[in-house]
Amino acid sequence: MQGNFIYSNPTKLYFGDESLKYLSDELKKYGPTVMLCYGGGSIKRNGIYDAVTGILREAGKTIVEDGGVMSNPTVEKLYEGARMARENNVDLILAVGGGSTIDYAKGVSASAWCDEDPWTKYYLEQGDPTCRIIPVGSVLTMVGTGSEMNGGSVISNHAQGLKIGKVFGEEVYPKFTILNPKYTFTVPQYQMVAGIFDIMSHIMEQYFSDSDDNTSDYIAEGLMRSLIHASRIAVKNPQDYEARSNIMWTATWALNTLIGCGKHQDWEVHMIGQAVGAITNATHGMTLSAVSIPYYRHVMAGGLPKFARFASSVWGINGEGKTERQLADEGLVALEAWMREIGVVMNITELGATEEMLPKIADGTFLLTGGYKVLTREEVIEILKESM
Ligand code: NZQ
Ligand code: ZN
Repeated sequence: MQGNFIYSNPTKLYFGDESLKYLSDELKKYGPTVMLCYGGGSIKRNGIYDAVTGILREAGKTIVEDGGVMSNPTVEKLYEGARMARENNVDLILAVGGGSTIDYAKGVSASAWCDEDPWTKYYLEQGDPTCRIIPVGSVLTMVGTGSEMNGGSVISNHAQGLKIGKVFGEEVYPKFTILNPKYTFTVPQYQMVAGIFDIMSHIMEQYFSDSDDNTSDYIAEGLMRSLIHASRIAVKNPQDYEARSNIMWTATWALNTLIGCGKHQDWEVHMIGQAVGAITNATHGMTLSAVSIPYYRHVMAGGLPKFARFASSVWGINGEGKTERQLADEGLVALEAWMREIGVVMNITELGATEEMLPKIADGTFLLTGGYKVLTREEVIEILKESM
């Protein structure tokens, strides 16, 4: 392992089908006013809203409701939530939902008491908070992003055609997260498989970089194997608790910084996917699936040994009598077959992207240097064309 790193993760996790009962213990640590953030209404239909508000009332909390957090939360919503949190002097932001709601809650946490423009400071300029931070807690209802145990907060600015992630420091991570796999049973199949691919992509973004022997890569391989196995069960039977619980746990470990330890990490698929999302507002995991195979074919030559290892260690492909290149190719064929099997979107056309949008998508794509090939803008266009 060549890299130097600091590892620390402050988020306390409560896992299992009885985990919500620990919410009342956590609430004791915070003042009387709780801002309850949630999305478009799924938690009202599946009973999670009633369960959570019941516990909040029992704890004597004043609830400031902030519903309607949209998928791919917008900067306008962020401003509105920050104002609401400040005006009500909230003591805790409780996010109940998927990555969008938790990302948004983190944005509000760092923006409420920020006297500068948070979009410019945190997202455009990637600055760090210097103001008071409101603590965040979360109850996860949709699995994929890892937002439940990291500092990530992705906000979309449609007027500027940008979707940008800010990775906040530990002070903005959720203080606690409740992970009940049963809460994910009502997630629509489209969102479930998008989440599954998002997890896979998070692992691959960290795995496909560097060439040293690194424990992080072995952990990543184990997580990928567990995810592939559980995903096959979950797509056939979304109510399979064992599969859904393993997927939930894998998602958390895929992006809580552990498997990135000592690694440069790629993240270019996310940069292209986010640029597609900024223009189309498509589901995050599907923006990644739509561009991944063309991207990996494009960069594979720069990291052949790792791609060959991916084929044998993750997909169980026998390398005997094959060149490294053949084995690496077979790994990507296996990845693609699995993607089609679970039913993710395989092209950006289906997500609403057109040929005319490609230059704008390329302009919104940040070019990173941690993977096996540093792309040019022209290469991004090529990959996008191959993804149509
Ligand atoms: O809004 P509601 O009505 O709750 O419906 C949501 C939404 O339509 C629904 N849903 C969630 N839980 C449900 C449910 N429906 C039924 N039953 C349940 N239990 O699912 C839909 C998608 O939810 P959303 O939160 O948007 O999805 P996801 O968790 O994939 O989050 C996507 C956002 O996270 C960002 C993405 O860019 C995107 O903006 N990401 C955050 C990251 C991070 N924090 O580290 C990293 C990721 O790479 C990603 O970029
Ligand atoms: Zn992602």
